[in-house]
Amino acid sequence: MKWGLYATGAIAEAFATDIRKLNGEVIIAAYARNEQKGRLFCEKHNIERFYHDEATFFSDPDIEAVYVSTPHTLHAEVSIKALRAGKHVLCEKPFAMNAKEAKRVIAVALEQKRFVMEALWTLFLPSIQKVFEWIEADRIGAVKVIQANFGFSGNQDPQGRLLNPDLGGGALLDVGIYPVLIANFLAKSTPESISAEVNLTNTGVDGSTFISARYPNGILALLGASIEVNLINNLVIYGEKGRIVVPSFWMANEATCYYDNDVESFVCDEQQRNGYHYETQEVSNAINDGLLQHDLVSHQFTIELMETLDRIRAEIGLVYKQDLNNGFL
Ligand SMILES: NC(=O)c1ccc[n+]([C@@H]2O[C@H](COP(=O)([O-])OP(=O)(O)OC[C@H]3O[C@@H](n4cnc5c(N)ncnc54)[C@H](OP(=O)(O)O)[C@@H]3O)[C@@H](O)[C@H]2O)c1
Repeated sequence: MKWGLYATGAIAEAFATDIRKLNGEVIIAAYARNEQKGRLFCEKHNIERFYHDEATFFSDPDIEAVYVSTPHTLHAEVSIKALRAGKHVLCEKPFAMNAKEAKRVIAVALEQKRFVMEALWTLFLPSIQKVFEWIEADRIGAVKVIQANFGFSGNQDPQGRLLNPDLGGGALLDVGIYPVLIANFLAKSTPESISAEVNLTNTGVDGSTFISARYPNGILALLGASIEVNLINNLVIYGEKGRIVVPSFWMANEATCYYDNDVESFVCDEQQRNGYHYETQEVSNAINDGLLQHDLVSHQFTIELMETLDRIRAEIGLVYKQDLNNGFL
């Protein structure tokens, strides 16, 4: 696949580093609004074409797929531009600011007959795949309770993307999305009831959000997100016969299953750094197979995840300007 990068920030750096682990995947172009930073990025990663002009980037006929890694507020708009230019799209999380935007992006992808997926890389990691395997094999019996946290003490710049409401700041959309996605994925549904508590920052976004949810199959989830404190960032899945523990689960490098007085651990040695390439390879395979979506992160999964996040935001009273008007839609 010939990739084009829209934006060259921190996560684009990780994407460009990890893609080198794959054969046949190449970044041929990048667009950045800051010419100097963009050119330096291209030099560092041997990217042949740098574009400072967005329209020229999108009209490059050799770019097959675009990786969107701007702050959240631009995800939907940029994805739609790329899809309308005939490109396939892998867009960073959250896929959009709300479910309405997410549905619009997916509608455009289907109209254009182009692949689109939210970059939920966690689900493609070998350690997380192993967790799914253990659950499928009934190691821990029926899942009853899921506990997951992602919290860190982040950059305190009120203008930065973590705290600035105009850039979609806040814990839930930045890191809370991971505990929520893993709970929805494991419960194979969305919550029938949700409650949440919040600490708001001075900028009016959520510094910490704690969620309790009940799923239709009776699974309970306790999920935490923070951009102001370092939480103990484990995923723990409790089943009738045992439990699974995954440290730093969104970037899981290991997992342990406790069952029947036995313990099995899985460590992914080959995941030298990050692990974004597992997702990239899967996206490339799906596009080459002519698919418009990936089974693991289907359009429906992304819409339901966005709807769950919308419901949590309603619980904590967190509104973004994209909720109040149609914005670019
Ligand atoms: N999957 C993961 O593990 C993961 C990890 C981190 C982040 N993310 C997601 O990736 C996205 C970016 O995060 P990040 O940490 O990479 O942020 P970042 O380092 O701030 O990078 C954002 C990039 O977007 C560019 N940008 C900002 N506003 C723009 C605009 N109006 N037009 C064009 N480009 C613009 C920035 O350009 P300048 O350099 O000119 O400001 C920068 O290159 C977020 O949505 C986040 O949720 C995902």
